[in-house]
Amino acid sequence: MVSTPLPKQNTKKTEIRDTLLTPKFWTTDFEKLENLNTCQEEAAIQSILEEFSKDYNQQHFVRDARFKDSFDHFSDEERELFLAFLERSCTSEYSGFLLYKEASLRLKEKNPILAKCFNYLSRDEARHAGFINRAMSDFGLSLDLPCITKNRNYTFIKPKFLFYATYLSEKIGYWKYILMYQHFEDNPQFLNHPIFTYFHNWCQDENRHGDFMGAVLKSQPRWLNGIVSRLQIRLFLLLFVLTTYFSGHKFSSFYNMLGINVKDYDIQVLKETNRDVSKIFPIYLDLENPKFVYLLDLCLENNKNLRNRNNFISKLPFYISNCLNILRMYLIPVKHSLPKGTVC
Ligand SMILES: [Fe+2]
Ligand SMILES: [Fe+2]
Repeated sequence: MVSTPLPKQNTKKTEIRDTLLTPKFWTTDFEKLENLNTCQEEAAIQSILEEFSKDYNQQHFVRDARFKDSFDHFSDEERELFLAFLERSCTSEYSGFLLYKEASLRLKEKNPILAKCFNYLSRDEARHAGFINRAMSDFGLSLDLPCITKNRNYTFIKPKFLFYATYLSEKIGYWKYILMYQHFEDNPQFLNHPIFTYFHNWCQDENRHGDFMGAVLKSQPRWLNGIVSRLQIRLFLLLFVLTTYFSGHKFSSFYNMLGINVKDYDIQVLKETNRDVSKIFPIYLDLENPKFVYLLDLCLENNKNLRNRNNFISKLPFYISNCLNILRMYLIPVKHSLPKGTVC
């Protein structure tokens, strides 16, 4: 149980269900992180640290009068869709806070520069999670964050993969927020809640977080080069594409409510992120290849069929088809960020 009903509101209790698309809570080998030598990118990391210390969004997350009764005009269905979005976003922000806070505490003695950076990251994520949770409380619900901290299962991830994953999720987060903000600027008739107007400054935090992760990745050439790392990067890139695309379509009713075509939106998010990726990773996926979207859509069709089947035998052909489609996507030749033969 993670929700705390507030008084004077119609309350509904929600639970965070664990699925492949639910934001995860991560932990890592902090001892390895303590000993990470980042001097190769020291100047970049130092300048990012200075950026963080300026705290550009210190005054940004202040609620204004628009939040009062901001949910009155929602139908029951819209309310459910919007609350589910807030819940997913809050969980994801809070998961980032927990991980970054833990890293900042564990690295304090041996790796003070990284520790300070992680501390600023956790400051931002706590602010984001708190702001969303406050918006949820307007609807009569809030996530019980201390309870989540105690009861969640943590998934272990190696430091190298942790930086792959956080770099990608921060950059995807940035593009999701900024593209949604731009959508409302162009289509104000769909703006149904004030929280979206905060996304412009908000996403700059995520962008800076991604830049930090990118600088750490660049300081570890062995994490980026060599055949094994390249195969692993390729796999991570594909996993993030699949998760973004499947998750977007799973919540397509929410995007429809906002006047957003979820397919166009997700493809744009992924292509923009791909451009960022090419500045850090030596390879990136060829999302311009029409086979990519074609195979993604085949997987979506299979997912629909899987939902309508009850037993494993009837599901099996769709599982096999999905595995083959994913393999075909993995095998689409990647693009190279640097001229061949260049060593980062
Ligand atoms: Fe955030
Ligand atoms: Fe972030």
